[in-house]
Amino acid sequence: MSEKVFIFDTTLRDGEQSPGASMNVEEKLRIARQLEKLKVDVIEAGFPISSQGDFDAVRSVAGLVKECSVAGLARARFEDIDRAWEALQGAADPRIHLFIATSPIHMRHKLNMAPDQVLEAAVAGVRRARKYTANVEWSAEDAGRSEIDFLCRIVEAVIDAGATTINIPDTVGYTLPHEFGERIRQLMTRVPNVGKAILSVHCHNDLGLAVANSLAAVVNGARQVECTLNGLGERAGNAALEEIVMAIRTRRDIMPFHTDVVSEEISAASRLVSRVTGFPIQPNKAIVGANAFAHESGIHQDGMLKDASTYEIMTPASVGLSANRLVLGKHSGRHAMQEKLKAMGYEIPDAQLSRIVQRMKDLADKKKILFDDDIEALVEDEVIREADPYKLERLHVASGTQDTPVAAVEIRIDGQPVRGAGWGEGAIHAVFNAIVHLVPGALDVKLQRYEVRAITGGIDAQADVIVNMERHGRSVQGRGVDNDVVVASALSFLNALAKLARKPRVMHGGV
Ligand code: KIV
Ligand code: ZN
Repeated sequence: MSEKVFIFDTTLRDGEQSPGASMNVEEKLRIARQLEKLKVDVIEAGFPISSQGDFDAVRSVAGLVKECSVAGLARARFEDIDRAWEALQGAADPRIHLFIATSPIHMRHKLNMAPDQVLEAAVAGVRRARKYTANVEWSAEDAGRSEIDFLCRIVEAVIDAGATTINIPDTVGYTLPHEFGERIRQLMTRVPNVGKAILSVHCHNDLGLAVANSLAAVVNGARQVECTLNGLGERAGNAALEEIVMAIRTRRDIMPFHTDVVSEEISAASRLVSRVTGFPIQPNKAIVGANAFAHESGIHQDGMLKDASTYEIMTPASVGLSANRLVLGKHSGRHAMQEKLKAMGYEIPDAQLSRIVQRMKDLADKKKILFDDDIEALVEDEVIREADPYKLERLHVASGTQDTPVAAVEIRIDGQPVRGAGWGEGAIHAVFNAIVHLVPGALDVKLQRYEVRAITGGIDAQADVIVNMERHGRSVQGRGVDNDVVVASALSFLNALAKLARKPRVMHGGV
């Protein structure tokens, strides 16, 4: 009989702390829906006291998700815990997750507290949280660098106070697998009441060891792993959910554990997170990279043709990659396109459906063959753009080797057409210059990043453009997808300007 390892997903909290990965409420809801399909055990939806946006996100995710526990993060302070509970009200299975640092470095330099004061605050925090719910997780921030005797003492005290999950983070990604595993073994053997709680781990990837450390912890007694899709998270990120889940699944011969994750949903979840955050997945990324199941060398291909197990330790289907991703062509009818969208898991409201199907047909005319990635990009493009007040109506550019590039642009702002022109060093520069004179407040914007990616291979691939823009200290990301890279650039620029036009989130503090 294998024992269950609980999967606690923190893509929406720690993952969102990656610089440039912040998500709005709608984006978090979309990811939460996919996490529910993936059947993770806990979704950490945010840090409610840190901003109104985070509070709203946790409240919305709590209201939406029925099959997983929903956690909100709090420092070991009453106001944080109360705010987290307020945000979690609507959840089917709410969890308050509170933390305080326990390493000498953090206690001295960050908290300016003596160990006994930290212990007292931790116990008081857990008691406060227990007044609201029996589902209380406590984390020892920087546990990887904490003194083991103190760690054992504080863990025992918070379990006595009522914590039901004890999380041991390697906050700075400092430990090595044998060392971290030993830390968990010591806690399992030295803390007398450890059996009343589940031991959890939360490993950062600063030395590239987050997954290895998490697995070493599981082997030594941890039964919850905190992780994120694509390994998103602070600095070098967290342990990647897909790697943890597939390592446990693939090596059950020597690790007698299982998770409840539906691994066939991993690819879809990974792609969604990449699209929403604008963080591309490196091609050689384990499990979800474009090359993870590609076989290039002749010897490998020969082996694969004879028997896939020669070079594949897991099947593409087990992570949700269908063998045949080539789907629709210009002769596919409207009905086939609607069915395809359904099969890809999209529930598109009628109001948007005709427009998306029309875009698919237009694209199929230009491109002849539509791949899943094309369809996904196009649907995402419609979804992110839906509420934007700026719509691109017309665009004309002239550029070349001799003349100054110029652009003429017509957009609608809240339904009203406006037209303008601009010139620049290149076609895209000219388009941006035309747009900044049309959209109110756009002249103050600074472009921080411009990235273009071809969605599929081939000369007819769609372009996916990401821009990061900043105005008065606030950064946002915009995206645009089109066959024409200049049009995709204009769309991404307008999408970012629309985000800047929305109300900023008010920050009250951070981890
Ligand atoms: O890395 C860390 O220590 C954390 C805690 C808040 C769990 O993210
Ligand atoms: Zn963390």
